[in-house]
Amino acid sequence: MGRWWQGAVGYEIYPRSFADANDDGIGDLAGITERLPYLEWLGVDAIWIAPFYDSPGYDHGYDVADYKAVNTIHGDLEDFSALVAEAHSRAIKVIVDIVPNHSSSHHVWFQEALKGRDNPYRDYYIWRDPALDGGPPNNWVSHFGGPAWTFDEASGQYWCHLFLPEQPDLNWTNPAVRDEFDGILRFWCDHGADGFRIDVAHGVMKDPQFRDNPQRAAITDPEDPSDVFNAFDHLYDLDQDATIEVYQRWNKVVAPYDAVLIGESNPRTIDRVAGYVREGSLHTVFYLEPAWMVWEPSALLERLEAVDISAETGVSWVIDNHDTSRSPTRFGGGDRGRHRSLAVFSFMAALGGFPFLWEGQELGLVNAEIQAIDLEDPISTRNAHGKGRDGTRSVMPWDDSHANGFCAGATPWLHAPDRMASETVAGQENTENSWLLKHRRLLLLRKTLPDLWETAAVWSDQLDGPAKALRRGDVIAIANFGDSPVAFDLPDGHWNLRFDSRFAATGSAHIGRVEVPAERTYLLSLVS
Ligand code: GLC
Ligand code: CA
Repeated sequence: MGRWWQGAVGYEIYPRSFADANDDGIGDLAGITERLPYLEWLGVDAIWIAPFYDSPGYDHGYDVADYKAVNTIHGDLEDFSALVAEAHSRAIKVIVDIVPNHSSSHHVWFQEALKGRDNPYRDYYIWRDPALDGGPPNNWVSHFGGPAWTFDEASGQYWCHLFLPEQPDLNWTNPAVRDEFDGILRFWCDHGADGFRIDVAHGVMKDPQFRDNPQRAAITDPEDPSDVFNAFDHLYDLDQDATIEVYQRWNKVVAPYDAVLIGESNPRTIDRVAGYVREGSLHTVFYLEPAWMVWEPSALLERLEAVDISAETGVSWVIDNHDTSRSPTRFGGGDRGRHRSLAVFSFMAALGGFPFLWEGQELGLVNAEIQAIDLEDPISTRNAHGKGRDGTRSVMPWDDSHANGFCAGATPWLHAPDRMASETVAGQENTENSWLLKHRRLLLLRKTLPDLWETAAVWSDQLDGPAKALRRGDVIAIANFGDSPVAFDLPDGHWNLRFDSRFAATGSAHIGRVEVPAERTYLLSLVS
């Protein structure tokens, strides 16, 4: 029997920015509930909601102060139950975001741990003595700038944080931490969650000896956290083999609920992606490289093929999320970037797995221009030149009323210029060939072509470089991301063009050879 996520398409919601029901400028759970009819119409099978738990908000919710409480800015547990009930009545599953790598420094566990070396909660976190010179115990750096260690004067030890100092890393070698999270998983499943997106899934285990990471490149901009971070080979702070055991345990915890485990992972090599979805561990894993790449057709296709072959249906495919620049912007901007974005996502829809849209991706949104004074992301506000993530996080444009219909009269939490009417849901839902209608067609079509996820892929050797093709049963997907047309020799039979990433007009029959124009994806099915 298939699992519910086979053939499903997910949709990521950033709760702050999606819909604000009580008009205080911050999105909330009730706002999501009100917009579920839209998501059902779009053809979404599951929503992933970024963290909405009690949090001081240093990283906008990815710093959790209580894993079992809803942040009052987003509502309460009753709102969550109402959301789940409404989603389920529309056959939409609800995936919540769980943050096991670190808690907030405001969490009672960390507040206790700070009380001293003998406190029972001390060992919930990672403490090390200073190096001989009194500095941090090793050379690990925070994703958000500076060392991954902060000194606690009172105890004379450093705590580890792969992100902000206010996000202390939990100690996953401690059985008590493992027990706590078993309880947290069950808590949300008991409240109706259908699965978990696991934040920094690859980070929970650390090298037992806390060795220095080898440096592989010079640091060119010490004020840019990603430049510093990428100068190191993360051999010892991330992606440790022992991580798999944590999720084998989780897999058993969630099995009675038929809940899905989707890891946010950033493995060192493509070969390691499949490791996370080995039997009995995670169900799928986000393969994030395409969400960070600029327009590099050959490199992108080469990686998609390699990951698809090694991890088969265990991948969650994405080109957009709340951490990256929006894909139409990264892929060249304007309509060209939008066409490219849809061409890539259409091909991802043919890669088995569990693809995810990011809110607004279906509208072809480009990044919002945020003024320096309005920046909210700690990557920007805590570093002199940090390239932050606010450009992708501006509010969802529903229509061309106040704040694009996100809230009634309040000022949205993140200040950004309003979007044009043509960029909004209302401006696209009845407009022929709009980005929204094309994305919707893709999602609906995918449901009618189960070969796209039920049947194993055979990659064709006819095309290579910036164009590739694969066959799954009676469906062929051809991606031509190059700047000139390519011809593809079809197997025997009549092949119907079911989806063209650029134009709605499809349905033409092809025999023998099909020509795919530049920067386009075609999905064809065999006429029986
Ligand atoms: C993940 C999240 C990101 C967050 C970080 C720390 O990468 O996607 O938004 O800042 O983890 O929790
Ligand atoms: Ca609100």
